Amino acid sequence: MVRPLLAALLLATPLLAAEAPNFEDHVLPLLRDHCVSCHRPGKTRAGLDLTNVAAIEKGGSSGASVVPGVAENSPLYRAIAHIGKEEAMPPDKDRLSDPILKVFKAWIEGGLKPTASGLAKKASAVLDIAIDPATLGAPKEPIVYVKELPAPAAPPRQTRALPVSALATNPWAPVAVVGGHREAVLHDLASGKRIGSLPFEPGDVRVLRFSRNGKLVLIAGGKETASGKAVLVDVTTGKAIATIGDDFDVVLAADLSPDQSLLALGGPEKLVRVYRVADGSLAYTVKKHTDFITAIEFSPDGKSIASGDRASGLYVYPAASGTAPALIEGVVDGVHQLAWRPDGKVLGVAAGDGSALIVDPEKRNIAAKWEAHKRGCLSLAFAKDGRILTGGHDGTTRLWKGDGTKVSENSGYAGSTFRVAFNHNDSEGFASDWSGQVRGWNLDDGSEVRRLISH
Ligand code: HEC
Repeated sequence: MVRPLLAALLLATPLLAAEAPNFEDHVLPLLRDHCVSCHRPGKTRAGLDLTNVAAIEKGGSSGASVVPGVAENSPLYRAIAHIGKEEAMPPDKDRLSDPILKVFKAWIEGGLKPTASGLAKKASAVLDIAIDPATLGAPKEPIVYVKELPAPAAPPRQTRALPVSALATNPWAPVAVVGGHREAVLHDLASGKRIGSLPFEPGDVRVLRFSRNGKLVLIAGGKETASGKAVLVDVTTGKAIATIGDDFDVVLAADLSPDQSLLALGGPEKLVRVYRVADGSLAYTVKKHTDFITAIEFSPDGKSIASGDRASGLYVYPAASGTAPALIEGVVDGVHQLAWRPDGKVLGVAAGDGSALIVDPEKRNIAAKWEAHKRGCLSLAFAKDGRILTGGHDGTTRLWKGDGTKVSENSGYAGSTFRVAFNHNDSEGFASDWSGQVRGWNLDDGSEVRRLISH
């Protein structure tokens, strides 16, 4: 009598049919084939015995080899999937096949079940998505924007549409800024009017950001293999107040500290250079990245900096000194963008393998991970309430709850969506693409609200 009922239940909920693999039936046979010749009682390479769950959890000379939850947090999984700095396992052999890796991944993510009827362990990384609004730092008075900017003396000539690789929205006012060649264009989102152009003499605009109080805009970029600079513009007057940096290659990532005392720049030179805004002097350099730096952001409290590179290196370090950067492992196929959640508790990462990751910088692990965009996730932004906007190589932009549950999307962009942003009251999403278009869309139903022109 029970059987038909169970079958009907399984049919109705297909997810239940895919039981999490268990150690005895699925994992141990794989370990026997590939690992126990070197990791068994009496022959424990690196002190690691892989013949039972307790021993695997205890791990080897460098500690626990599996932690229930996101697989990329487990050294054992990183070793077999060839992720991060772990010694590749089995040594001197090809990587195990994808179906085998999937079994290990599902076993770890399913809570290290010992047998088919055994109990799963609770995942160690728990995502807390509540945000304390007191941590957000809204300005006491509304920002009064420059109403109109003078036309540039010599308008930048452009023969073809540039991909818009820089886009930012003001955190506290209905204003957006869009990058182009030698200029950034300010848009008033309330009136729908273009306010005007902010010149950027150093070259292509690669990074745009508003200061945390919304009064300054940071424009950074330059010329490939030649020079990189950042300009700070006061958006209440439209005037540039500082030009900082003398990098020898274009700036690809930049941020201004929340107290506006420090400016961090990075790019193909693989160095993070942190400058003092007051006098433009170099405060320190971080030499940890092994590939192009693609993302830099100060934590909302200004105490830390996170930076990421094309080779998946992700580091967090004290903003005051840059000393002893802590490596966070587990990103796959490169960091494309990163953003601190507004309460500073976790970091969001857009990764080359298509996933969006939520990283806990204190525990140095991954709290959540999901596939956001096939073929690569390129951009990521947080709303003030912790919702997440992503863009990627699939030409869509998607809205997610803080735990990765999909809410809505806007599609049909030309090629990839390079940058995404929420408007000041988190009702509209923005995304920019290859063809130079920027769309604003309704986050509730995915419909298009407006289009901004970058040039
Ligand atoms: C030919 C022998 C050999 C095989 C087969 C082998 N390993 Fe290893 N393993 C080693 C050695 C040697 C080390 C130490 C590497 C080092 O630290 O340089 C090691 C280290 C490790 C570590 C790091 C332990 C720690 O705490 O530092 C893990 C995890 C690991 N192996 C997992 C595996 C898994 C999983 C397999 C099977 C897919 C496997 N190994 C297959 C020899 C082997």
